[in-house]
Amino acid sequence: MTATKGLEGIVATTSTISSIVDGVLTYRGIDIDDLALHAGFEEVAYLLWFGKLPNAQELSDLRQDLDTFAPIPQLLIEQMKLYPKDVNTMAALRSAVSALALYDEEADDVSRSSNEKKAIRLQAQLPTIVAALSRLRQGKEPIAPQKGLSIAENFLYMLRGEQPDETSIKALDQALVLHADHELNASTFAARVTVATLSDMYSGVTSAIGALKGPLHGGANEAVMRMLDEIGEVDQVESYIQEKLNNREKIMGFGHRVYKNGDPRAKFLQKMSRELGEMKNDTKLYTMSVKIEDMITGQKGLKPNVDFYSASVYTQLGIESELFTPIFAISRVSGWTAHILEQWVDNRIIRPRAEYIGLTDQKYIPIELRA
Ligand code: ACO
Repeated sequence: MTATKGLEGIVATTSTISSIVDGVLTYRGIDIDDLALHAGFEEVAYLLWFGKLPNAQELSDLRQDLDTFAPIPQLLIEQMKLYPKDVNTMAALRSAVSALALYDEEADDVSRSSNEKKAIRLQAQLPTIVAALSRLRQGKEPIAPQKGLSIAENFLYMLRGEQPDETSIKALDQALVLHADHELNASTFAARVTVATLSDMYSGVTSAIGALKGPLHGGANEAVMRMLDEIGEVDQVESYIQEKLNNREKIMGFGHRVYKNGDPRAKFLQKMSRELGEMKNDTKLYTMSVKIEDMITGQKGLKPNVDFYSASVYTQLGIESELFTPIFAISRVSGWTAHILEQWVDNRIIRPRAEYIGLTDQKYIPIELRA
């Protein structure tokens, strides 16, 4: 038995949900480029769960279900009020989603229909939870979701308490489409491992949120913003990045386990970042980001991943950096739950082996004889 560090190149399951072949990402066989330009996030979530694009009636039914499920239990809000205000938002989200299971009588119902309903419910409730966490940490009361709005619009509305502008809604909606699924990424794998024991969907999504939180995965977008804030000005980029490179430090938002010639999602976020900057007559964040990209690609040959330009996009949408990774979760919960449903279709517990490289032939030493 020989271990493969980070399971690189290991094919751990079959899936019909999304694929990455020769640098092209598809959801259910549809190129992400096509979906990013033409599909709304709700259509994409339906596509991931049910394997086909919804017709008009199916989409309308889904929107209605999302409206019905979007409110969260008042008891959960009371519980979230007790969380410390300065806590990591992903840690708070992980706790809240775990707690959500306690208020769902169907949490342990293993039927397909109940699990499909739970997937839609989780999709509907995550944006409400994240918006509520954001307001509570600012000492404000959460705002209840409004019926008849898309997830992107409703989320922005619940954050600010006012109707968002069309540009912001479109930008966030496209970002949600781009983040919805990504083959067997770390958080999706965590979700599949958890539910393959026949644990419940909430446990799977809670595991996934824990995995997404890390800066090598979804947490990178927040780390990118911290870096941009630290750099501060365009003319500081060169010295800051050069020092990091000289110290062999990782630059967040660059590199990818699967894409070696660029992440197909990054170009949309880069364009969005430029356009939002131009609209506001302030392209500083975009210009800094491009300068960083030039240096990292030039010197290391690494390309930006989905997280790099997300940071400047969300900031220009007026969203605080503590919400960047939770927004990733709002989108990715569609993919996680689709994978959980798929895992259960032909389940087998996921239990790999470890190559043992520790001591051998040791004997038990009584405590009084130990050094
Ligand atoms: N900055 C500087 N060097 C890097 C970076 C980076 N961002 N990414 C990879 N490298 C270097 C590594 O140091 C390594 O160099 P070495 O061979 O001289 O040691 C080489 O490139 C290969 O990198 P690995 O870390 O082995 O690649 P791996 O596939 O294990 O990791 C990962 C991929 C985690 C994305 C990595 O590129 C990284 O840490 N990037 C920064 C964090 C980040 O942006 N994560 C988000 C990924 S996208 C997502 O999850 C949504």
